[in-house]
Amino acid sequence: MTKQNHATHKPREKWGTRIGLVLAVAGNAIGLGNFLRFPVQCVNNGGGAFMIPYIVAFVLLGIPLMWIEWGIGRFGGKYGHGTTPGMFHYLWKHPMAKYLGAIGIAIPFGLVVYYTYIESWTLAYSVFSFTGKYFGIQNHQGMVDFLSAYQGKTVNSYFNGIGTAYLFFLITLGLNVWILARGISKGIELLCNIALPMIFIFGVILLIRVFTLGAPDPAFPERNVWNGLGFIWNPDFRALTSAKVWLAATGQIFFTLSVGFGAIQTYASYLSEKDDVVLNGLAASSANEFAEVILGGSIAIPVTVAFFGLAQTQQIATAGSFDLGFFAMPIIFQKLPWGQFFGTIWFFLLFLAGITSSVAMAQPVMAFLQEEFKIERKKAALIIGSVAFFLMQPVIFFLKFGFLDEMDFWIGTFGLVVFAIIEVIIFIWVFGSKNAWKEITLGADMPLPKIFYPIMKYILPAYLAILLGCWFFQDGMKVLTMQGVPPENYPYIWFARFLLLGILGAFVVLVRIAWQKPHLIQRRIPS
Ligand code: PHE
Repeated sequence: MTKQNHATHKPREKWGTRIGLVLAVAGNAIGLGNFLRFPVQCVNNGGGAFMIPYIVAFVLLGIPLMWIEWGIGRFGGKYGHGTTPGMFHYLWKHPMAKYLGAIGIAIPFGLVVYYTYIESWTLAYSVFSFTGKYFGIQNHQGMVDFLSAYQGKTVNSYFNGIGTAYLFFLITLGLNVWILARGISKGIELLCNIALPMIFIFGVILLIRVFTLGAPDPAFPERNVWNGLGFIWNPDFRALTSAKVWLAATGQIFFTLSVGFGAIQTYASYLSEKDDVVLNGLAASSANEFAEVILGGSIAIPVTVAFFGLAQTQQIATAGSFDLGFFAMPIIFQKLPWGQFFGTIWFFLLFLAGITSSVAMAQPVMAFLQEEFKIERKKAALIIGSVAFFLMQPVIFFLKFGFLDEMDFWIGTFGLVVFAIIEVIIFIWVFGSKNAWKEITLGADMPLPKIFYPIMKYILPAYLAILLGCWFFQDGMKVLTMQGVPPENYPYIWFARFLLLGILGAFVVLVRIAWQKPHLIQRRIPS
């Protein structure tokens, strides 16, 4: 705690222990992205060759951004600010800075609105595996119908409405609010202390199960786990010349490490002034990569190849990230001895990975209400839960019109690159590369290799700018002009865009109001 904070307001919350902190940031990063998104991205973009741009993006972009966000976060925490408006305000003494910071609350909050809904499906499917509800549905189409009835898109013998999905959504939202209301160390840290070891244990159990499968169907000896692993890891080097593959790999690094969102900064703001950033940041990123490449890469795809063969797996993987997890896996569990058990832990693993991420997305807006508006923690959690509840209604009810996908594109593909550019410019170029370096290395438990200085200063911003340009020409125009979107979906797509703009606008206005409060301005002046 710094002196000025003592003088004017009660101390900010802090992480309880160092291991708790690392587990919390790992929990933030390890999410549905690791287990559902990564394997599909890898297979669809050249298999083993995908790993080359992936590793390049991890080293040149992921790790430096991670350190930058930890640095910005701990810096802001010292002035009593857990969100980017306050952080940018101190890094760049310009009236615009705080408004740019509003993006760093709008993005993670927008993500909460749809991520929590997907998270609730994983909880539901864990229960369905336990009770054997989908047991008996033997083919892909059957599982597609099952999910679509669950989501209320169609009515059939499995579900007669959206009621069940709505119930699991309410439970999931309630759990999130409850954890947020308990606070940093008694809520999030405790959750991650329990959930992270469970994720690893469940992951390893599933991994062993997959590796001991061999060729489950003697009639098709080529359908085996080793061909499944080969499918992911055999490089198709032609993929390296495709811009699309580089974009996909970079996008995956952003998404999986939770960088570019504004969420890491908030977690880092609960550090003490001289707590290490370099080693902690590296440890959390490494834990994420283990969960992604080793666990995420060895479960869903190899098991699907073992049961369905290469051609069909490829088909399933191109259809979308969820197809593999929600359609293929449930059929496989039915063919395994102890299938209900393995199904339960697979979906519960997804749920734990999801909830340790969704509380991380909601924490920036929590910190914002608590610090800039002096709203008490429990009340802040309830306000956020209620607003999120309302905003989630169109996500739930307009799912079939592409509402969720539209939000995901603007937040999960576009927004984070833009926000990363903004924070890098403000921290490295405006605040100054020397100051930024000093800020990151302060209290470090390991030396930060000097090579990262030019990487952060030149390579990272250039990389981001090229990425944004490529993205714009490759996908941006198509999405903007709604190419391939059925005309009946247009109004819903526009609604999704207005909703996102509305969320951003609301935070800009809130920042403006907060900055007009005299007691807050006083607190911001460091002694
Ligand atoms: N990294 C998380 C995942 O892999 C997603 C996430 C993004 C979590 C932003 C928190 C903040 O699913």
